[in-house]
Amino acid sequence: MNVIVVTNYARMSEEAAKIVRAQILKKARSVLGLATGSSPLGLYSLLAEYHRLGLDFSRLTTFNLDEYIGLAGDHPASYRRYMQEHLFSKVNLHPEKTLVPNGMAPDLEQECLRYEELIKRCGGIDLQVLGIGVNGHIGFNEPGTAFGSRTQVVNLTESTIRANSRFFSSEREVPTQAVSMGIKSIMQARSIVLLANGGRKAAAVAAAVNGPVSEDMPASVLQLHPAVTFVLDQAAASKL
Ligand code: F6R
Repeated sequence: MNVIVVTNYARMSEEAAKIVRAQILKKARSVLGLATGSSPLGLYSLLAEYHRLGLDFSRLTTFNLDEYIGLAGDHPASYRRYMQEHLFSKVNLHPEKTLVPNGMAPDLEQECLRYEELIKRCGGIDLQVLGIGVNGHIGFNEPGTAFGSRTQVVNLTESTIRANSRFFSSEREVPTQAVSMGIKSIMQARSIVLLANGGRKAAAVAAAVNGPVSEDMPASVLQLHPAVTFVLDQAAASKL
């Protein structure tokens, strides 16, 4: 596991952006796995900047980790909308190559299978961007999720609902379920970069990097992956 510790959020975003840019330059047809939330916002804004300076996204395919069940793509708190706002509208990705699970699919089991199949058909994910929850979740794989899990419907824990209520007008509006890529789907990515900033994440980061590998701490599975980089600010690294 490669752990990079930098001074602050801006530096964390720069390190991550360098890694993503290197992947795109190495393979123009890369398949990128993407996360939402606060952690990758700076990364996406730098990628938009690189695009303005000439970086080409036209041959990439992207797969997002997750989407809330019951939110349409144009709902202000949906992950499709987040991606549209922070990245997709700012670079020259082809809309049909920006994949996000459909949280409104009439048959969600079928949607999960379809998503896994699409990832496979695209040749698998070259570089997966991850954040980490305060409880150690990756994607929406909450503590206790099987390491063998594939894209599936998941129930969100109270702590995740509380943490994500900042994007909604009240906690009651936060969906209680999501479609999320599974732990196994994430682990099959050829390389992974995980971003974490702030002291709130320090305990989860320390458990993920140095703790026992356990389904109770989903991010600890990354210790078993051959090509993972954690990019942390000092506060997130403070318990390492
Ligand atoms: C987002 C996702 C989540 C977040 C995690 C951290 O697509 O899958 O695992 O990465 O909850 O969220 P932030 O970055 O908002 O602290």
